[in-house]
Amino acid sequence: MALKLAVLISGRGSNLAAIQREIEAGRCHAQIGIVVSDRGSAAGLAFAAEHGLATAVVPMRAHPDRAAWDRALTEAVAASQPELIVTAGFMRILGAPFLERFARRIINVHPALLPLFPGTRAPALAIGAGVRLSGCSVHVVDGGMDSGPIIAQSAVPVLPADSAASLHERIQRAEHALLPRVIDAIARGAIALEPELSLRDSILGSADGMLTFPQLGDGAP
Ligand code: GRF
Repeated sequence: MALKLAVLISGRGSNLAAIQREIEAGRCHAQIGIVVSDRGSAAGLAFAAEHGLATAVVPMRAHPDRAAWDRALTEAVAASQPELIVTAGFMRILGAPFLERFARRIINVHPALLPLFPGTRAPALAIGAGVRLSGCSVHVVDGGMDSGPIIAQSAVPVLPADSAASLHERIQRAEHALLPRVIDAIARGAIALEPELSLRDSILGSADGMLTFPQLGDGAP
């Protein structure tokens, strides 16, 4: 059975597209039940519509306060009865009602090797800090900013000529490989999020030329 996803976005949606591409290629045993955005202008919504995916827009300013928006977002996502929620470029912190309703069923992708460089400027912060490796992390979402148990990470080099944009582009290529793999590993039961994070296989390996830990997607459960 394909794992039913709700994907939350705010912008471009390149990770959403990567997940859908891997699903369509039969390499990610999931299905996207709904794509939810807090911004009606998010480019990822057009991608979703083109691919026949259900969408919902829950803008903050359409609600009288943060608590009302939290409730509306929770209801919009719950209506699709997802087994896993993926925040992929969703630019809002999830509120307590959402986190309680979907506890340990929410994962996020972040463009840095957490716990370094949480927040919205991760590639610029990595360059400013002078690190020679950065990458992406997929982690379980808790109430903090890009905090919560780390599931998997991929490393990429930070090159001397890099700008924040060029580094972010390289990191995104790693995200597009890693995130669908993590989703597939959860679908296959190789990774359990509940009652607490456990990784069935923890083999250090290299995938797609990137140092990735754990190595995912090359074994039956
Ligand atoms: C990604 O780099 C993700 O790590 C960060 O926001 C970006 C979203 O990109 N949280 P996209 O919308 O998936 O293209």
